Amino acid sequence: MSDSPATRADAARAHYDQAAASAPDFSLMNYGYCAPSDDSVVADGAPEVYCLRLYEHAVRDTVLNGRDVLEISCGRGGGAAFLAKTFGPRRYVGVDVSAENIRIATALHHAGNLEFGVGNAESLEFADASFDVAVNIEASHLYDDRKAFFDEVFRVLRPGGRFCYVDGCWKDDDCTADLAGAGFALLERRNITANVLEALRRDSPRREAIVDAMPAEMREQYRDWSGVVGYRAFSRFESGETLYFSHLLERPRG
Ligand SMILES: C[S@@+](CC[C@H](N)C(=O)[O-])C[C@H]1O[C@@H](n2cnc3c(N)ncnc32)[C@H](O)[C@@H]1O
Repeated sequence: MSDSPATRADAARAHYDQAAASAPDFSLMNYGYCAPSDDSVVADGAPEVYCLRLYEHAVRDTVLNGRDVLEISCGRGGGAAFLAKTFGPRRYVGVDVSAENIRIATALHHAGNLEFGVGNAESLEFADASFDVAVNIEASHLYDDRKAFFDEVFRVLRPGGRFCYVDGCWKDDDCTADLAGAGFALLERRNITANVLEALRRDSPRREAIVDAMPAEMREQYRDWSGVVGYRAFSRFESGETLYFSHLLERPRG
């Protein structure tokens, strides 16, 4: 019998559960966003500043105040806590396939409008048309079936609801046909690879220090994944082999 994970969701769960034990001291796990003239509510020098600015960028021009928001793949909840506190949604629900991520999120972040739970992006345990906004940050590349995920987001959004979706991808992987196939109207699609690369350049020493504190046998692999300058994830964005996009989408009313 093989011990290898049966699905990508199993692999993600195992990976992030292990990372939670080996590197517990941060609450965001994305590559970040940096704009030349950042008009940001996140202060320069704030902990995990660029990771928070990716969340801020993702929800640009989207009203969260008083709304019901679902974040799929919330990780350790740092972005959820930031959006729930800063933009005043009525209810902000974060779900993630890793129970360890949800344990950390629940322990770290407390607010009356914020809740976390374990859940799979491809089979969301929420009623049809139960949220106004869906947020998804740097996670869909890990899913088994991205189309199933888009269908699920469409289903749980109310008509007129917003989908704020950012992720990296291979350069020839254009997700826009699948988004349209699920029924979404594309309001905006931006290539933000240069913003992500600049964030990684500025954040690399912090990322390297996190990796250096991990068990020796894990360091090489995590340098590749975590976006440290000169290692695999960074080099792929730098060479154009991979790109990073942000999308604003809407479930049409009609
Ligand atoms: C790179 S992390 C990003 C986490 C968070 N959005 C952030 O920016 O800090 C990717 C996340 O996707 C989650 N994930 C992977 N596959 C998933 C699935 N099928 N359903 C739900 N979450 C999943 C992982 O557990 C992990 O927390």
